[in-house]
Amino acid sequence: MGCVIMSYKLLDGKDLAARMKKAMSKEVEKLASEGIVPGLAVIIVGNDPASRIYVNNKRKDCEEVGIKSFEYALPEETPEEELLGLIDALNQDSSIDGILVQLPLPRHLDEVKVIRRISPEKDVDAFHPFNVGELMIGRPVFAPCTPAGVMELIKDANIDVAGKNCVVVGRSNIVGKPMAMLMLHENATVTICHSKTRDLKAMCSKADILISAIGKANYITADYVKEGAVVIDVGINRNAEGKVTGDVDFPEVSKKASAITPVPGGVGPMTRAMLLKNTIKACNMHNKKSLS
Ligand code: GUN
Repeated sequence: MGCVIMSYKLLDGKDLAARMKKAMSKEVEKLASEGIVPGLAVIIVGNDPASRIYVNNKRKDCEEVGIKSFEYALPEETPEEELLGLIDALNQDSSIDGILVQLPLPRHLDEVKVIRRISPEKDVDAFHPFNVGELMIGRPVFAPCTPAGVMELIKDANIDVAGKNCVVVGRSNIVGKPMAMLMLHENATVTICHSKTRDLKAMCSKADILISAIGKANYITADYVKEGAVVIDVGINRNAEGKVTGDVDFPEVSKKASAITPVPGGVGPMTRAMLLKNTIKACNMHNKKSLS
């Protein structure tokens, strides 16, 4: 039997995010010509270094497309009532279209209570139970940024999802669960796996589309992957040398996959682009514009 050499399609999130940002800049310019400037408020509590980087990136992204960003950096020991008071004020502020509270919060703050306080129509992360419910019944106003970014990447590559076996590894509220819902709405047959799943390798190797959000560097090796599968790597991990790597062993898995995301440059830039998209959508809704 001859050796089959497969070539894979690289799902380039950096490129797609750049194309999306270009289109969004034009949309924001048009709004500006009518005197409308989308505004995003980002709240960060404490000094988590990873959160600091994420928040800085959000500010740069906003500047790039012309969204006005407002940053609220609160000290670690901020009382819950003070944080809730700030959210109340931002809910009332007509120059703010989107409100994002960077997670995780310090332990004395109740994350669920804080997120519930954000007005659902300004909840550009789509973490409020109202928006979670709308997603569940298949009519999301805002979709959570990472799963929505994955869907955009898949659509842009013309990958057909209907009827395919999709395995999502990870069951977080931010990625795994909404990811499964979006795939289900596109008619995939969806399995959610997690840390208690028996024989994860066997489950993954049945996937036509494998989406990993585990958070363990190079966990998904080639023996987890079916020949010709689409592999989406949501992981952002640091290896022993401090280099950013995904959950997927890219050099080996790319030999079997038909399409695969790199890390960095895959899902990460798409998450960032989707936040901008949700903010512009919120702005259009607040100004009663028809949605694109
Ligand atoms: N922390 C890690 N990811 C996210 C995200 O998408 N949104 C918020 N608010 N916090 C996060």
